[in-house]
Amino acid sequence: MFYSDDTIAEVVSRNNIVDVVGMYVHLTKKGNNHWGLCPFHGEKTASFCVNEAKQMFYCFGCHKGGSVITFLMEYENLTFPEAIQTLAGRVGMDLPEVKETEEDKKNRNLVQRLFEVNKLAAEYFFLAGKTERGKRAIDYFKKRGLTDETILHWGLGYSQAYSDDLYKYLKSKGYNDEFLKESGLVSINEKGAMDKFWNRAMFPIMDERDRVIGFGGRIMGDGEPKYLNSPETKVFDKGYNLYGLNYARHSTQKYFLLCEGYMDVISLHQAGFTNAVASLGTALTDRNALKISKYVKEVYLTYDSDGAGTKATLRAIPMLEARGITVKVVNMKPHKDPDEFIKALGAEEYQKRIDNAESSFFFELRIMASRFKMEDPNEKNGFYKSVARRMLEFTNELERSTYEEAFATHYNVDLKKFRELVIETARKEGPARPAYRTDDSERAPQKKYVNAAEKKKDDKILQPQRLLLTCLSDDPSLYERLSKVLGPEDFTEGLYRKVAELAYDFCRDTGQVNAARIVSCFEEKEDQEKAGAIFQTDLPGKVNDAERAKAIEDTVRKIKLNSIEDKINAAIEAGNGQLVNELLKAESALKNRNTNLL
Ligand code: UTP
Ligand code: MN
Repeated sequence: MFYSDDTIAEVVSRNNIVDVVGMYVHLTKKGNNHWGLCPFHGEKTASFCVNEAKQMFYCFGCHKGGSVITFLMEYENLTFPEAIQTLAGRVGMDLPEVKETEEDKKNRNLVQRLFEVNKLAAEYFFLAGKTERGKRAIDYFKKRGLTDETILHWGLGYSQAYSDDLYKYLKSKGYNDEFLKESGLVSINEKGAMDKFWNRAMFPIMDERDRVIGFGGRIMGDGEPKYLNSPETKVFDKGYNLYGLNYARHSTQKYFLLCEGYMDVISLHQAGFTNAVASLGTALTDRNALKISKYVKEVYLTYDSDGAGTKATLRAIPMLEARGITVKVVNMKPHKDPDEFIKALGAEEYQKRIDNAESSFFFELRIMASRFKMEDPNEKNGFYKSVARRMLEFTNELERSTYEEAFATHYNVDLKKFRELVIETARKEGPARPAYRTDDSERAPQKKYVNAAEKKKDDKILQPQRLLLTCLSDDPSLYERLSKVLGPEDFTEGLYRKVAELAYDFCRDTGQVNAARIVSCFEEKEDQEKAGAIFQTDLPGKVNDAERAKAIEDTVRKIKLNSIEDKINAAIEAGNGQLVNELLKAESALKNRNTNLL
């Protein structure tokens, strides 16, 4: 651990979660909780709540939850120590010198030095643009319509025509070969060192916090490859970062323009559209979509107007929508991309295209329709059937009905008959499919259970464990009786057991369960979220004291039985017959509901 437990405890206790979350989310107090729209997924009704007593947040929609530290890590994309530092700074608290392990130090040093070397390289490329040879790159940018101001704004530059120019420079700054290899700026083999980029027009790539993380280099003229990009490094994560986000995040528009290329972003910004971003020479990923959703709830897709661009658009739509983003598609025909459009027709015309952008739904329908020859009745029916199938992706009835109407009106189809077709399709093809077509290469959006077996395991085994831990944190007086019957070792899953251990320790030492502190004991955000969710499990509906006591009793029995079952299996495996018999006896005693456990 980076900071001592006491330091973390002090930071957490001095930063009221309601105040901290309140800086980002508009909260309204209702009952014991403060409610607001979840900042981690798109929603129209508030399912995100902050509990002041517990100092925890939880979203009933996307199931994210945790302490004030988790919130900051998630929202601001900070590491654990960074979140601690931010919170300490917020209340003017001095942090003690950090206790870093050698490993931590090495890692932090590496990341920091990668930022440093990329910045140095960016400055070097920029200055190379001022040299005799480098003028070629600047002329190239100018020929493409960029102003001096724009070139400075984006730090555009030039990589020299010698194959180890940057390498020599960075060596002179004291960096060693091993590190330079790691930076992706040079490749080193038996033959020697070679710069990744030479004789190219250079685009430094910044993360959202203005740090240079990598480069794109364009050939000046024709040739292959047109763009060369830095390889992935510890700081250059292509599926996560977006070009232009460092500027677009400050735009006052409530939507982003999402395009394909570096030049598109730069041209759009130069023309006043400072809300343009692009993915980094790769297809959009779910993590990109998640990142975008933290800033805006609306995206205008302005991908190339060719076949590849259309395909990319169709792929991006469900990905963004799964993150609660409303998507519209900008038509740039007859031009290829925003850069060419603006050069040909200007910013005002482009603004008109934004104003007239098509909703993602009609875009999809139009592309679908273009695959059928409508003058052929057979094909036309095929089109209707495809649309009916698409309708089944709307799992919300009201929403589906709205889209059915929109389709019928737009395509001049009898609504009643079309609805019959939808129902018939549903009957033939089973229930609605989810609207999100998972992209295998990336993590799927919040999906609580991977399969039915997992859900069953959760219901049967983990849910009671969660419920009991929530009850214990709500009523720590339970500890006395509970600890005689059930130990942390009866909590079967690793993370649950750790949480139980901490909860028991807290009860014993302080007579309370400090859920926020427990969550803070986990350094990984995912673990914090899982631990946070444990304390948000409650009995359904309103229950009186007797009902509550009975439910707790049942829950303890369930957990104990499950734990014994595990032990029996282990004993069978180990061939310990005597132990199996003892455990079976204990099991049948437990099943006798006439004796109270607590
Ligand atoms: P495009 O081929 O659409 O080029 O690539 P563009 O953006 O219009 O480029 P200009 O206007 O000719 O300069 C779109 C994006 O795909 C990535 C780059 O990020 C580029 O901005 N790309 C393209 C590569 O990474 N490598 C390539 O060889 C080509
Ligand atoms: Mn272009």
